[in-house]
Amino acid sequence: MKKYFLMLFAAAWCLPGMCQMEKVYTVQADKIKAHIEPTMYGIFFEDINMGADGGVYAELVKNRSFEFKMPLMGWKELKQDGAEGSILVLNGGKANEDNPRFIHVTSKSAGGYGLSNEGFHGMGIKKGDQYNFSVLAKLATPGVSLQIELINSKGEVMGSTSVIPASKEWKKYEANFKASATDPKASLKVLLKGKGAIDLDMISLFPQDTWKQRPGGLRADLVQKLADMKPGFLRFPGGCIVEGRELDTRYQWKRTIGDVANRRMIINRWNTEFAHRPTPDYYQTFGLGFLEYFEIAEDIGAAPLPIINCGMACQFNTCELVPIDQLGPYVQDALDLIEFANGSVDTKWGKKRAALGHPKPFNLKMMGVGNEQWGEQYIERFKIFEKAIHTKYPDVKLVSSLGPNPDGEVFDYLNTTFRKLKANILDEHYYRAPEWFLQNANRYDNYDRNGPKIFAGEYAAQSVAIGSPENKNNWECALAEAAFMTGLERNADVVHMASYAPLFAHVEGWQWTPDLIWFDNLNSYGTPNYYVQQLFSLNKGTDVVPLLLDNKAVEGKDGCYATASIDKTTHELIIKFVNSTATTQNISFNIEGAAGYQKLAKVTTLRSDKKDAENSLTNPKAVIPVQSEMEVNGKLVKTAVEPYTFKIIRLKNL
Ligand code: AHR
Repeated sequence: MKKYFLMLFAAAWCLPGMCQMEKVYTVQADKIKAHIEPTMYGIFFEDINMGADGGVYAELVKNRSFEFKMPLMGWKELKQDGAEGSILVLNGGKANEDNPRFIHVTSKSAGGYGLSNEGFHGMGIKKGDQYNFSVLAKLATPGVSLQIELINSKGEVMGSTSVIPASKEWKKYEANFKASATDPKASLKVLLKGKGAIDLDMISLFPQDTWKQRPGGLRADLVQKLADMKPGFLRFPGGCIVEGRELDTRYQWKRTIGDVANRRMIINRWNTEFAHRPTPDYYQTFGLGFLEYFEIAEDIGAAPLPIINCGMACQFNTCELVPIDQLGPYVQDALDLIEFANGSVDTKWGKKRAALGHPKPFNLKMMGVGNEQWGEQYIERFKIFEKAIHTKYPDVKLVSSLGPNPDGEVFDYLNTTFRKLKANILDEHYYRAPEWFLQNANRYDNYDRNGPKIFAGEYAAQSVAIGSPENKNNWECALAEAAFMTGLERNADVVHMASYAPLFAHVEGWQWTPDLIWFDNLNSYGTPNYYVQQLFSLNKGTDVVPLLLDNKAVEGKDGCYATASIDKTTHELIIKFVNSTATTQNISFNIEGAAGYQKLAKVTTLRSDKKDAENSLTNPKAVIPVQSEMEVNGKLVKTAVEPYTFKIIRLKNL
């Protein structure tokens, strides 16, 4: 009877030919289907696209320690007003194996001789901000000092200071100064004053205004964008970067902690990966290292998820393997990492953490063994790690890779094998066309409810093809991801974690597109995909409840996708609805099992009429969430969902 009435009602408000017939969905607000893990929506971080060096790591000087393959890359000799001198690159070898090179600068003039650094596609400098300069110096000739100048793109000085080294031994000198102008493409001059010679290393410039004002820290605007997602976890440091193109350039966490001058720099594997996007100046200084990753996770309330190398280099590149009988040090690195994160200050690695300023443990609960690995060789190695880690730390959950694709032989083999091994968490990756995302919102409906949990560890809709430099972060892709994510959430009993990848990209320094957040040296913007991720995260609720049409889940019929959850802490019902079609959907939600809702519901709408709409540095708000309110009629919610729209409705219990 009630249904009949609703159908009549529907017919009355939809003008024929102008929109679809109204559909009535049922929400069973009192039937909890699945608990949503706090980790559900998180962040995948990798130093790709100048995400760390040249990106979130706020160091402005490129090649500060002269350890790039070409030791003076990023630097230019300066001979102002005819000044004369020379720069020699010295290699101290064993005296400092982690940072062997430095420069010996000789000035034959009273002033004007020195060098300048170009930064990472320039240096982003802000008017009125303070900048911290530092350098390791060793005087060869008494009386030589350093004049430091920030230069804007027109060649004018926009800030300066001086440093007067006094020691014949290596010593760190610091000075700070204010910038008088804003420029995204500034450079830094280091000029010698007086005739003589000096050794220099670790020439560094940081803004004082970093995330949480930490000296030598991270770009505040970029970390803020992560914090604004309220992510459930932070996966780091990648990505293929974990594996290295060869084992020699794999990620070794122990080399990324402590004094930055002693963090051994290596080439970034993305430096040479794509011939169409060469980035010869891309290296990893590890200024953003494992302590910093754990700290950001802590700052933004995300569970840390480190991924460690499992004795395999990237299988898209060299496929180098560590012989099984030589895996010991790799396994030890994993065990030590858990102790570094969680151990008491009396343990070897817990003590190191405390000495680095963080006595409190980081409460590490999970770890990935290998990044995107596959094959029997992976299983063989994984088993060894698993045994060692679970013998010592039975509660740490391990993430196993299911390879680079969401289906096919490689995937099937890993999936079957890891399920037999009763793996904890399986990491699935899907870089696919938007259509794939629309067609796979039901992917997890029939997964084993008692098997391993799923981590949708890397995904992004590709508007052209995987790895194509033409891929766009457009609304079509973001909307398809939103549709797919309703399926993740509906299956929250199986899917415990999900993250878009990659995260960051410098507009001039990228190798891979699409990416979640783009930036230049001064500004950044969230893509439509970013807002989809953010909205799911901010509106996840605590428990999934059924949202049905004709007694079935809403997973693509007529281009519509939906999920509902309740939030036990805020006492709300949250409905997420995706209309992927070009037609307005007139819909009602008939809510069962609830006492009723407050009259005004909060609505968030993310939409565009144009599927190819994108955000950009000049137009960052083309597709952004818009907040509004709507009236609720008791337990009936009636709304029109416009074409190409992702809508969230939050109803507060009476
Ligand atoms: O996200 C970019 C790359 O895609 C990751 O490094 C790798 O895990 C995947 O192949």
